[in-house]
Amino acid sequence: MKVLIVYDSRTGNTEKMAYAVAKGVEAEGVAVEVKKIDEASVDDLPMADGLILGSPVYYGLPSGKLKGFIDASIKYHGRLDGKVGAAFASSGGTHSGAETTVLALLEALLIHGMVIQGTSEGNHYGPASVGAPDNTAIETCTKLGERVARLVKKLHD
Ligand SMILES: Cc1cc2nc3c(=O)[nH]c(=O)nc-3n(C[C@H](O)[C@H](O)[C@H](O)COP(=O)(O)O)c2cc1C
Repeated sequence: MKVLIVYDSRTGNTEKMAYAVAKGVEAEGVAVEVKKIDEASVDDLPMADGLILGSPVYYGLPSGKLKGFIDASIKYHGRLDGKVGAAFASSGGTHSGAETTVLALLEALLIHGMVIQGTSEGNHYGPASVGAPDNTAIETCTKLGERVARLVKKLHD
């Protein structure tokens, strides 16, 4: 079982979130691979049981690089059906596009047929942090990693 985390980050905020998410996946005993968008390839997708996308908020949307990755993922359309998906985002301000960015990423994962679990507590759609993630944001990211890993394990039973 393996979870792939693909993120974009220009100034390091989303990157810190990505590694906090990875820590949560590992804590649940599931293998994790973290790839910055420039090193990521859609050819990594078929081997992953879960995919978590992270993006900085650019005009209320995922970055162009992340969108390029999503568009390239059509190569494996149908092959991600039933796998676990999740998303997180880093913004410059509050109420300035973080939720729309997370939801845009989740929309693409739903179109792939992926299984997405919300949360009844805190960041319902996925972690959103303002600027450099503080301890609370890091904890939220780690919890997301744990939840995704637990769901991956359940779906494998
Ligand atoms: C082109 C561009 C567009 C941005 N648009 C928004 C925006 O719409 N809303 C917002 O809150 N922050 C916006 N920001 C700020 C970034 O989302 C924020 O600084 C984020 O933490 C950067 O993440 P990173 O350190 O992983 O690159 C924008 C930044 C850039 C460079």
